[in-house]
Amino acid sequence: MLNNKEFDLWAESYDQSVDLSNENEKYPFAGYGKVLDKIYIDISYACYNTVLDIGFGTGRLAWRLYEKGCRIFGQDFSDKMIEISQRKMPCANLYRGDFTQGLVEDLKQYKYDAIIATYSLHHLKDENKVDFIKSLFPLLKDDGCIYIGDVAFDTREELEKCREKAGAEWADDEFYFVFEEMKKSFPKMKFEKMSFCGGILLLSKI
Ligand SMILES: C[S@@+](CC[C@H](N)C(=O)[O-])C[C@H]1O[C@@H](n2cnc3c(N)ncnc32)[C@H](O)[C@@H]1O
Repeated sequence: MLNNKEFDLWAESYDQSVDLSNENEKYPFAGYGKVLDKIYIDISYACYNTVLDIGFGTGRLAWRLYEKGCRIFGQDFSDKMIEISQRKMPCANLYRGDFTQGLVEDLKQYKYDAIIATYSLHHLKDENKVDFIKSLFPLLKDDGCIYIGDVAFDTREELEKCREKAGAEWADDEFYFVFEEMKKSFPKMKFEKMSFCGGILLLSKI
């Protein structure tokens, strides 16, 4: 699993490498563009204003929402990612913190229309994902929504097929979402598949 220093080193070339994998429809970022576009459209359509981005990276999605006028809050543990994002979004409220330890206290003082996490929560083990996602619900406004865009599969069988195809490229230390398994903890969860290895998991309070 990449630590914060390794993300620091990746930060400058992050956008380029992700775009390449997305354009070539290769694991792990096949569907990345569609995932971000769809979340952006849904948040815009819902007229959501206050957005929390967990693991915002270079701010690819948060920046678009910021430009649209959303109030952006975020947490990431890479100083370099924070520096890049803060430069793009000078008025965003960006905090440094490791989400395996939960959210920083300051971010728990607000309620959000939308909580987004794109390609970040696969760093949590499945059992920790469930607890972490549950801890987000009290921070969501009543008509708010949680959008998790990530490497994700309908079934464990699909994940295994992807692992086989990816061969040596497969990241053994990442824990990808399997919708049918997540649904056991979140019966109201929805899944929108965007590519053979990516999609959006949606959760709302109501
Ligand atoms: C693959 S990037 C995704 C960035 C962005 N959300 C996107 O969609 O392009 C993962 C991001 O999550 C952050 N991250 C990974 N593990 C983390 C952790 N335990 N706590 C906080 N941030 C973490 C990394 O620093 C990085 O910025």
